[in-house]
Amino acid sequence: MSHHFIKIQDLNFEYSDGTKALEHINLYVTHGESIAILGSNGAGKSTLLKHLNGTLLPTNGEVNIGGITATKKTLQKIRSAVGIVFQNTDNQLFMPTVFENVAFGPRNFGLEGEHLKETVEKALTDVGAIHLSNKHPFRLSGGEKRKVCIASVLACNPEILVLDEPTAEVDPKGLKDIVTLLNSFSHTKVISTHNLKFATAVCKRGVVLKRGKVIFDGEMSELMKNVELLKEAEILEEY
Ligand SMILES: Nc1ncnc2c1ncn2[C@@H]1O[C@H](COP(=O)(O)OP(=O)(O)O)[C@@H](O)[C@H]1O
Ligand SMILES: [Mg+2]
Repeated sequence: MSHHFIKIQDLNFEYSDGTKALEHINLYVTHGESIAILGSNGAGKSTLLKHLNGTLLPTNGEVNIGGITATKKTLQKIRSAVGIVFQNTDNQLFMPTVFENVAFGPRNFGLEGEHLKETVEKALTDVGAIHLSNKHPFRLSGGEKRKVCIASVLACNPEILVLDEPTAEVDPKGLKDIVTLLNSFSHTKVISTHNLKFATAVCKRGVVLKRGKVIFDGEMSELMKNVELLKEAEILEEY
């Protein structure tokens, strides 16, 4: 894969109970871009993100990652290119120590011994969590858990990083760390959130979803000026 672009063409997705979660989504993300996927609860953010590594496959339309169309057959290739940090960290922290958790992915990709140790230590150092190596994941704070999940994905060396609501269960100090961390990565990034301030701090471009449809795709700075649209999308903080 030479260019790690994402190209989504007329993507439609319907859950087995008939819920139309995504309708006619078209999106092109270029190499190195950081984009925020914004929308209220149930807008379709997680459903969209799950299409980026083939966790879900389109009902209709196409998802293409760096020239490879996501299908059952290409899942392995797609997953080596796209690393996802899901919203719920507890589902991703299933090993008895932080180190073992971060080692899980690269070990599956065939790394072992000194090479594996170096890879894990680098990923944990990159997220500022090397001191937590021997801890049990359940003893960590929300922000620490998030960092360890990010390290687990980084250790697999993906070209594209996808993060679903990375600010969930993270306090203000942890939030600042996550912003600094995400801004230090040169990966192509797709980040879902309903936090406008966070989105602006980490992404230049924003895509707003409402009931499974894209209602805005442009600069975050333009979006922030469009109060009507933010109200329509129910992502304006009014309290
Ligand atoms: N497993 C599922 N089965 C049926 N409907 C689902 C499932 N997961 C999500 N949905 C529905 O799909 C829509 C989009 O959900 P989701 O992608 O989780 O939104 P968001 O992440 O923006 O909160 C919602 O209407 C939600 O109720
Ligand atoms: Mg979600």
